[in-house]
Amino acid sequence: MPWTPDLGEYETVLDERGIADLLGAISALAGTPGDIVECGSWRGGSAMIMGEFLRRTGDERLVYACDSYEGFDLDELRLERESGRTRERDDAFASTSLKYVQAKIRERDLEGKVRPVKGYFEETLPTLEGPFALALVDCDLHSSILYAACALWPKLSAGGMMLFDDYLNAEHFSGARAAVEQFLADHRDEIEDERLLSRLYRVRKARGATRVGALDTGASTAGA
Ligand SMILES: C[S@@+](CC[C@H](N)C(=O)[O-])C[C@H]1O[C@@H](n2cnc3c(N)ncnc32)[C@H](O)[C@@H]1O
Repeated sequence: MPWTPDLGEYETVLDERGIADLLGAISALAGTPGDIVECGSWRGGSAMIMGEFLRRTGDERLVYACDSYEGFDLDELRLERESGRTRERDDAFASTSLKYVQAKIRERDLEGKVRPVKGYFEETLPTLEGPFALALVDCDLHSSILYAACALWPKLSAGGMMLFDDYLNAEHFSGARAAVEQFLADHRDEIEDERLLSRLYRVRKARGATRVGALDTGASTAGA
């Protein structure tokens, strides 16, 4: 029987539709090699839902949960506020820590399934080798979204999926949709399918697409 997590038990910004999109994508990964990476984990809620789902389905993949665990990069956040893309305060998503998330992972006995990676993406993503079958980009701000997507794309397996949150969230993060559109325009030739699910935007990498391994930062500064 499919598992539907009780979202009240997890601290996540994703709602039922987002979680259904996410777990549906994971269910469709059979035959695609690689782990799962999340960019933007906050208190670990969506990462732990993914970890629990993997455990229940007997899937050996690991979830790399990447976050500063201190909130946004404040220089980036201030620029986004000045450009009118968000009104979030400096302390948004700062209510977390690596220790807090590690303790939650231990409590749920998910140590073998969810691995937190602390730091800003420009420091941490180049250290992740991949390959990844799925990347969830849920980091809200335009240049972080674009950086994360461009840095992870070469490490995504052919046939793998990248999911973006906030494509529809123009009220709080209007830069998110622009970042996804820019990413799509820059990677059109390597995309097999792209569509808005019920909340998340899903991009599937073409099966004939490029090698896994190199770091593509070509568009990383375009949205800065
Ligand atoms: C919306 S929250 C993630 C929510 C999480 N996916 C969930 O549903 O449980 C966005 C997170 O992105 C993180 N973030 C944004 N930009 C970042 C960057 N450049 N490097 C590291 N973390 C970043 C913030 O710290 C914040 O915790």
